Amino acid sequence: MSRHFEAVKVTDKVYWVGAIDWGIRDFHGYTTPRGSTYNAYLIMGDDVILIDTVREPFKEELLARVASVTDPKNVRYIISNHSEPDHSSGLPWVIDQVKPEKVFASKVGLKDLDGYYHMGGIDKVDNGSTMRLGGVDLTFIDTPMIHWPDSMMTYMPSQKLLFSQDGFGMHLASSERFADEIPQGVLYEENAKYFANILLPYKQLIVKLLDKIKDLGLEIETICPDHGPIWRKNLQVPINTYYKWCAQEPTNKAVITFASMWGSTEIMARAIEDGMVSAGANVIVLPMKSSDRSVVVTEVLEAGALLVGSPTLNNGVFPTMADTLTYMKGLKPRNLVGAAFGSFGWSGEAVKVLNDYLEQIKVEIVSEPLNLQFVPDAEGIEQCRRFGEAVAARLKEVVQNGA
Ligand code: FEO
Repeated sequence: MSRHFEAVKVTDKVYWVGAIDWGIRDFHGYTTPRGSTYNAYLIMGDDVILIDTVREPFKEELLARVASVTDPKNVRYIISNHSEPDHSSGLPWVIDQVKPEKVFASKVGLKDLDGYYHMGGIDKVDNGSTMRLGGVDLTFIDTPMIHWPDSMMTYMPSQKLLFSQDGFGMHLASSERFADEIPQGVLYEENAKYFANILLPYKQLIVKLLDKIKDLGLEIETICPDHGPIWRKNLQVPINTYYKWCAQEPTNKAVITFASMWGSTEIMARAIEDGMVSAGANVIVLPMKSSDRSVVVTEVLEAGALLVGSPTLNNGVFPTMADTLTYMKGLKPRNLVGAAFGSFGWSGEAVKVLNDYLEQIKVEIVSEPLNLQFVPDAEGIEQCRRFGEAVAARLKEVVQNGA
């Protein structure tokens, strides 16, 4: 092994031995302008235990970090908390290098790892069970759909430490390993972006998991996720933030996102914005010519209204809007009011497509779609302003009185 990488001590028995991916800018459709990390952890008990591995191109970085603490051949056990390839594609090579006595995963994890790597020989751990490995007790908690069906978390009572795989993670490459070392604005932004783009569809399961952790009485002083920084201070902050995002309580913020072809839909969007702001809403406008779908979803996470606009193109909707709304539909944001708008030359089908998307996202539709032909004139602009005012008024009611 030619390159040197240092492990980072997390507690007296646990080291971070993951990899930093400064270059990744797209994570299955989610833009990651600040890169990411694939975190793995080493437990130095009487035997050495590795928690998770890393994405395959970073496998040597992982073992180099292990080597800064102990000979990698001392790894006796590997626990795979999550089979998605960002955490497991390095696993077959790591197994080949260190030849562990046992590799453990959840019941579904066994099948997934076999499906990916055709690698039987993994041992199953049961939900809620505690196993003593190398003099260390570890408790396994199945967390299906956070983020995949196989996902589980591993709790280490002696260190009051939770290995939370994707939970409490974020795509943020940094030389700092701990959340309290990161500028808090950056931390909040990337935490929200990860939640909106990865975890939002599973918000009800996340609430149950958080409640379950409370009910189990687990004392947690450190949360070690599989992406981004480690949480070791003020853990109520990330936990309560998750509760808040799961609830998606509507706020007075509206997101207007649109595509435009020759500028008419953009004129409409700006007039709608003007109407909404006059009526007291906080508005963010995201033109799809310069925004991306994962930013739109992140802004929607803490919004109460969603307005979508498109010109009619070839009897349908503009491709960037179809992209964004298809993506958003899968992430299931909820508790939104909204409406669709657009411009057209001679047929005008786009607004119906947009409206259908809003219905599928279960947006409370405040107004019939506003569909204007060619370039909005003064009356058209006034219609847009009133349209914006109407959505803002309903948003205000929802925020004040509940939906
Ligand atoms: Fe980071 Fe679901 O993998």
